[in-house]
Amino acid sequence: MTVREILKMGDPRLLRVAEPVTEFGTPEMAQLIADMFDTMHAANGAGLAAPQIGVNLQLVIYGFKQNPRYPDAPQVPETVLINPVLTPLSDEKEEGFEGCLSVPGLRGSVPRWTKLRYEGVDQLNQPIARDVDGFHARVVQHEVDHLLGMLYPMRITDFTKFGFTDVMFPDLDPNDDD
Ligand code: NI
Repeated sequence: MTVREILKMGDPRLLRVAEPVTEFGTPEMAQLIADMFDTMHAANGAGLAAPQIGVNLQLVIYGFKQNPRYPDAPQVPETVLINPVLTPLSDEKEEGFEGCLSVPGLRGSVPRWTKLRYEGVDQLNQPIARDVDGFHARVVQHEVDHLLGMLYPMRITDFTKFGFTDVMFPDLDPNDDD
């Protein structure tokens, strides 16, 4: 088990556009994905993008049954998504609170597409195509933004809904200091 250091906002490596993955099924890829799951689980994250641990590849992971950082969120299947492409399925956006392991201690309300299709491949280059909405759609948009060098504060439009987690959500476990 290897928990890797998560880069924090301000690190220029979080602002890069990630490179497509071209090699699949390698031991290095398997190790990277195992480390990412260890790192995400250790931090109770809902998702993690490879650039957050300094690896500039188009690879994200996400998913959980129950997440203490988002206690009201419905479960999202555990997924490895590589070289993703997102297509909104309507013009509708909705606001919802997000946190980020690279932006510890803060939450902000971010507008996201309510429904979208995502396509990509898994770690064995098998295709993934899903139509999703709600929190699942939000998580994917947040993670894929990391591949574009975007952090959620860059998407906030209403800064009255941006603040410290322990102030805005005092019922959340303070040990999940994200
Ligand atoms: Ni994030």
